Amino acid sequence: MPSPQTDWWRSAVIYQIYPRSFADNNGDGMGDLPGITAHLSDLRDLGVDAVWLSPFYPSPQHDAGYDVADYRAVDPRFGDLGDADKMISEARALGLKVIVDLVPNHTSSEHAWFQAALAAAPGSPERERYIFRDGSGPDGSEPPNGWKSVFGGPAWERVSDGQWYLHLFDVSQPDLNWGNPDVRAEFVSVLRFWLDRGVDGFRVDVAHGLIKDAELADWHYAGEILGGLAPEGAPPPPMWDQDGVHEIYQQWRSVLDEYEGGRILVAEAWVQPADRLARYVRPDEMHQAFNFEYLDTPWSADPLRKVIDSTTAANAAVGAPTTWVLSNHDVVRHATRLGYPVGEPRKHGIGLGDPQPDVALGLRRARAATLQMLALPGSAYLYQGEELGLPEATEIPDEYRQDPAWERSGHAERGRDGCRVPIPWEADAPSYGFGPADASWLPQPSVWAEYALDRQRGVAGSTYELYRTALRLRAAHELGTGTLRWVDTPADVLAFRNGDLLVLTNFGDAPAELPLNARVRLASGPLTEDGRVPQDVTVWARV
Ligand code: GLC
Repeated sequence: MPSPQTDWWRSAVIYQIYPRSFADNNGDGMGDLPGITAHLSDLRDLGVDAVWLSPFYPSPQHDAGYDVADYRAVDPRFGDLGDADKMISEARALGLKVIVDLVPNHTSSEHAWFQAALAAAPGSPERERYIFRDGSGPDGSEPPNGWKSVFGGPAWERVSDGQWYLHLFDVSQPDLNWGNPDVRAEFVSVLRFWLDRGVDGFRVDVAHGLIKDAELADWHYAGEILGGLAPEGAPPPPMWDQDGVHEIYQQWRSVLDEYEGGRILVAEAWVQPADRLARYVRPDEMHQAFNFEYLDTPWSADPLRKVIDSTTAANAAVGAPTTWVLSNHDVVRHATRLGYPVGEPRKHGIGLGDPQPDVALGLRRARAATLQMLALPGSAYLYQGEELGLPEATEIPDEYRQDPAWERSGHAERGRDGCRVPIPWEADAPSYGFGPADASWLPQPSVWAEYALDRQRGVAGSTYELYRTALRLRAAHELGTGTLRWVDTPADVLAFRNGDLLVLTNFGDAPAELPLNARVRLASGPLTEDGRVPQDVTVWARV
């Protein structure tokens, strides 16, 4: 039986915290767990239901913590286990759920298991936890196959005795061998470790990557930066979305179901089409999967309507809610992405040498896109700073870049640092209130002051107040558990009913009419003098 207590996730708004960049308590220029705890009440005031934290585990930070050296501890940069416990209990006291990140596809090369594998001989049980192979070519000096790392360059690295290990991401992120029972047992134990500490769920990193084709069949194509999506015309990738991943999630689900209160698994799986992705959220597997197809859809009425329909239908077929998302720590922030001409291919980071976005247009569309997203039935994910209307930092000098994709792609990809810059809380404080020191691990643009929370709180029409009102109305009108019904409109307009609200977005340059009886509750931008909806504006109206 569905119950509000265990089914909270079906309609939840979940706020992604990127710990490095949320709030720095100890003044070292890097965010930390005490910084997060200190700001949880701000998130309660914003009106979200839950937080998801990107990794805070011990890590050499070659991929910003997605290279985990110990799954049961906290990196001293971020605090200690006591700080994690405090953060979890404080969140609970405020009525916020906590989701942590689980990185099961690979460990850090500094993980004790990988160090043991390096010290052990080829064919040893230690090496069997990873994917070691002999090389190809007459003397084994060529990689075992032509797979490429999603950060650029080959996906294999040679070790001193001549064997090679697989790393679909950075060379410091060796892939685990999920055919090995040790690996399976270890992760069940890690799940229990955090469940016992009271977390409400796990965001599962690279959930589509754990099982590789048994033969490691060759494949010469580079994936998208995050992997998963094969380039057009390429055969199905042998490293992504293999059927064998599902039994792993069935086992994890049975572990979570032993715990009370509706603990959840959310898949980061770059898998298309929607019915393939929906396999991850069948009733005995995960609860949610990020809808990246929606995130990737151009700002245009027809494609958006299609993706909303197709992803909703695919999830409904397995009884799962759809999970909407526009920004995260891996993509260009939507306030900037939407500031480029519609239909341009998605960029993985923008730098000084690239064409710069139209900032005002990007923000206008981002506000409209968010109001559309927050009115859709299902669950929604927000990424820290989007409630401030933050754009991508597009002018980070290259010497500061830390994303491994920058070096590994031979500087062809700028990488994801631009969406990871520490966020501004107070316009006139050092590091804009990010921390006590006038320092942050990535430089903050000087325009950050105007986006700071203290410049927006209580200011009618600010992006922050738009989000806050939207979240309040979303809850009051029960939009998350509602049903979407499309309304007939001109071609450049998208409108749907959800409960007693009409949600209308105008993509065209002619202002759109609202029905005569419509009473506007919220709009992402000003309406025309005669009450029509201008281009790139979304309206919520009572009808
Ligand atoms: C996921 C993370 C990304 C990371 C990658 C490798 O896609 O979101 O930040 O680089 O996995 O762990």
